[in-house]
Amino acid sequence: MNMVKICRKFLTGNGNHMNKQLLIDTAKELLADDKGLLAIDESNNTCNKRFEIIGIPQTVEARRDWRELIITTPDLNECISGLILYDETIRQNGRKGLPIIKTILDAGIIPGIKVDIGAKSMALFPKEKITEGLDGLRERLNEYQNIGARFAKWRAMIRVGSGSPSQACIEANAHALARYAALCQEANIMPIVEAEVLMNGDHDLERCLEITKEFLRTIFNQLYRQAVMLEGLILKPNMVLPGLTCKKQETEAEVAYATVKCLLQSVPAAVPGIAFLSGGQSGKMASARLNAMNLIYKTKLPWALTFSFARAIQQPALKIWCGEDSNSDAAQKALYHRAKCNQAARLGQYDTGMESPILNLPEPVPI
Ligand code: G3H
Repeated sequence: MNMVKICRKFLTGNGNHMNKQLLIDTAKELLADDKGLLAIDESNNTCNKRFEIIGIPQTVEARRDWRELIITTPDLNECISGLILYDETIRQNGRKGLPIIKTILDAGIIPGIKVDIGAKSMALFPKEKITEGLDGLRERLNEYQNIGARFAKWRAMIRVGSGSPSQACIEANAHALARYAALCQEANIMPIVEAEVLMNGDHDLERCLEITKEFLRTIFNQLYRQAVMLEGLILKPNMVLPGLTCKKQETEAEVAYATVKCLLQSVPAAVPGIAFLSGGQSGKMASARLNAMNLIYKTKLPWALTFSFARAIQQPALKIWCGEDSNSDAAQKALYHRAKCNQAARLGQYDTGMESPILNLPEPVPI
């Protein structure tokens, strides 16, 4: 092998060495001990909207307090291996002046960072969205790594409607996801590849299955073309579900069957783990469906099936907290409870009976 080839093989565009083992180890660590991930990476806009509904002030301090409450939940690291942060949070200090990132590390949790800058209207396809954030990403990844992030997340999302998604939207989003993943691996940051087919609409389960399969196959084709190492990433897809307003709503076992079938037909066995987003399902529903998948299929699957939920873990606790310090303990208990239920779901050991202790907590205000 000549020198040019040697340099191409080991040096990244950054002049860094891509450390394959490090990427593999980060993925393994995030998937170990039947733990899952917790996404607290809502943009300020999204976080503010959720606060507004329950009357929490939409301020930088309130967002900090909410994230700090989550991060300091006692024993959270029993069931949560990684936290996905937003840019504002990763740079923030907590109330007592301690960097949030240090609090996370001290809690024994791996910090990660959302690096896309959101889904924007796709030019010439007004009903569809393309996720942006590739400009300057190489430099931002280096900065996040210096702050302490070990993994990253990029979310591409597809809307189901009449005439959508278009092939153009699927392909553009898949291409951007693969470019993001390649840049992450170059920087030795383990990429979470998030591909979401939205639940909104009256489409049936079968349509969701077909679109999710097409989206995932296109993504893996792009990941392969762009030389992304599959052993050093985690996939974050939607579960295969009927649209929210579809008349027929399948059982947990039927959802589990469709989701596993879709994944087996589209996700290579080299991928170490699949961590589902919750997509607007209730906490209990998301736990029950993840549980059904692991209960019925766990021993037959090449990848671990886990969770990387935001709303399905945060929402019950947020409704209890309501921005009041006096509710913090109860909110942390509710958050820990949902995380624990999802850990049980990884093992196929979740049972609705587990939900009873939460009944002792104060009633949440309606959202
Ligand atoms: O980008 C979305 C989050 O990572 C997952 O959020 O569980 O509320 O769908 P969700």
